Amino acid sequence: MELQGKKIVLGVTGGIAAYKAVEIVSRLRKAGAEVHVIMTKEATQFVTELTFREISGQPVAVDMWEKVTHFNVEHIALAQLADLMLIAPATANIIAKAAVGIADDMLSTTLLATKAPIYVAPAMNTNMYENPITQRNIAELRSRGFHIIEPAAGHLACGTSGKGRLPEPVDIVRIVSAALTSQDLTSQPLTCQDLTGQLTGQKILVTAGGTIEPLDPVRYIGNRSTGRMGYAIAEEAARRGAEVVLVSGPTVLEDPAGVRVIRIETARQMREAVLAEFPKAAAVIKSAAVADYRPAAVAEQKIKKSEDDLTLHLVRNPDILYELGQKKEHQVLVGFAAETCKVEEYARKKLAKKNLDFIVANDVSEADAGFGVETNRIKLIDRSGRMTPYPLMSKKELAGIILDHVAEVLEK
Ligand code: PMT
Repeated sequence: MELQGKKIVLGVTGGIAAYKAVEIVSRLRKAGAEVHVIMTKEATQFVTELTFREISGQPVAVDMWEKVTHFNVEHIALAQLADLMLIAPATANIIAKAAVGIADDMLSTTLLATKAPIYVAPAMNTNMYENPITQRNIAELRSRGFHIIEPAAGHLACGTSGKGRLPEPVDIVRIVSAALTSQDLTSQPLTCQDLTGQLTGQKILVTAGGTIEPLDPVRYIGNRSTGRMGYAIAEEAARRGAEVVLVSGPTVLEDPAGVRVIRIETARQMREAVLAEFPKAAAVIKSAAVADYRPAAVAEQKIKKSEDDLTLHLVRNPDILYELGQKKEHQVLVGFAAETCKVEEYARKKLAKKNLDFIVANDVSEADAGFGVETNRIKLIDRSGRMTPYPLMSKKELAGIILDHVAEVLEK
């Protein structure tokens, strides 16, 4: 708990990268810090105040004039309690306001009032970042002692590529921790890690899609999984240098580049493929929707309809993940829990029963999350019981978050 007793005020401004600030809070708390979040009104368009309240365990300040019980959130109080102030993501707007001393909301006012060291992580479209006005404002902040955490280069949410991406939360937390524990950062630039080779040398086994269980030569029992979530994880793991094996149920998706794909149809075929790959895997991420039951018998010929109703007799399929949990040696095991009610409660039960390192709780009752869609909304729960909620984001972005956690457990 290297940040035990440290108080950090985190300013979150209105950029698409605001969701990454949720993970920053989670990581800072894990390291023992007390984190107070100030959001600009624009930031609340991207992530709710409630998410930050839940994850920080503290009231969240947005409005200068709102009445908050339990805690004095006046800008002066926050400015004074901070051992360090961090703004992540910092838009061109907050940078400009800080550069000229505008104080027209809770965040900009607290910035002016604090004497704590201030770390700023700009994140915006490349053209905005490179604009001479923004560059002049950043230079102004530097000259006044602000610490600027360089943005990363890469694919940006606005569809372009270039400099302007918020560095990964793990890197921002590393920089903040070093600052608060007086580590010498002079030899380390305040920049992000390149995650491209992060998982090099590690074999990652991913399952994706739904299994199908035949009834006869033309019919089957299936589910709504398209494989998108698992394919996004496999693709990102390969991009980070892992040797990736993807065991996939039927899908229309193309094989991700650099990934060995094993196609299966039934739960029992998935079990066989997974068990064969398991011994050499460093981590297994089971995002597949596996049928818990299958028809007791598969008719050799197409079942003919009659005047009577038809009753199907189903038998239990093996629980692959449970079996891996029993066999597990060095492997990091990640499960998913797709639920329509009591999501967190059921996810916690599966985490314990299947002996997982962490579980991705997925509320599939929401139209924009879970099966089929390009986006998802998840909560990560680890073995210690810690739960981190994430706002709605693309499955690709969530894949990165899940792999960050895998990498962290692997490192340990
Ligand atoms: O494919 P998409 O359209 O992108 O949708 C993504 C998703 C909704 C399928 C995915 O995000 C998700 O939630 N996957 C888990 C689905 C599921 O079946 O969850 P479950 O709660 O029933 O199973 C719990 C865990 O045990 C899962 O990791 C599952 O892979 C595993 N399991 C379940 C049953 C079984 N017989 N064997 C297993 O290994």
